[in-house]
Amino acid sequence: MADQVPVVWDHGEGVWVTDVDGYEYIDFTSGVLVTNLGHSHPHHVEAIQRQAGRLLNCYSFPTPERVALSQRLVALFPDNLDQVFMLTTGAETTEAAMRIAKRYTGKHEILAFYGAFHGRTFGPISVAGSMKTKRKFGPQLPGSILAPFPYFYRTFTKARPRRSAGIGASRTWTASSNPPPRGTWAPSSPSPTRGARGSSSPRTAGSKS
Ligand SMILES: Cc1ncc(COP(=O)(O)O)c(C=O)c1O
Repeated sequence: MADQVPVVWDHGEGVWVTDVDGYEYIDFTSGVLVTNLGHSHPHHVEAIQRQAGRLLNCYSFPTPERVALSQRLVALFPDNLDQVFMLTTGAETTEAAMRIAKRYTGKHEILAFYGAFHGRTFGPISVAGSMKTKRKFGPQLPGSILAPFPYFYRTFTKARPRRSAGIGASRTWTASSNPPPRGTWAPSSPSPTRGARGSSSPRTAGSKS
């Protein structure tokens, strides 16, 4: 955050943020995707106030609101996904994804992609694909493997445009594996997209989504 403009935020309304000196800004950060409703939307404020006056914390017990949200989320998921694990931050979610992959597969290597950002606790830092995120925080978790991201329009190498980015990526990986997988790979990237470092999903030539 060292490159951030030194603005002290005071309050916000919709897309607007006002700093302590009264200057107004448009909030293009959107809380990194968590203030998509804008600041201080009356319905949002009312819901938070109502909840704060009723129940502040429920540890990991269910509540009617948690059940309702889970049902709405499951309705959006593919048929084979019917459970919800609610967490608070992206880093915490990455940690949980890594734990679930390890427990489910019984394996321990995690594959992640160059360029990806997954948060700033040690699991996410270990699978970060940006050296800036890792620098001076070593050593990181063993079994963290980075591979080029198979995205056709931003290839890792200067592969010819018509060649599949997936093939280009796997060739580069074979040549530069760090370290090579040992057959103990919990076959999962913590996230199929690279998030804050580029919201692109894996794509190869000819793929539609
Ligand atoms: C893909 C992805 N994962 C994890 C995170 C980390 O989220 P948090 O700051 O809530 O820990 C981010 C944040 O930008 C992200 O874009």
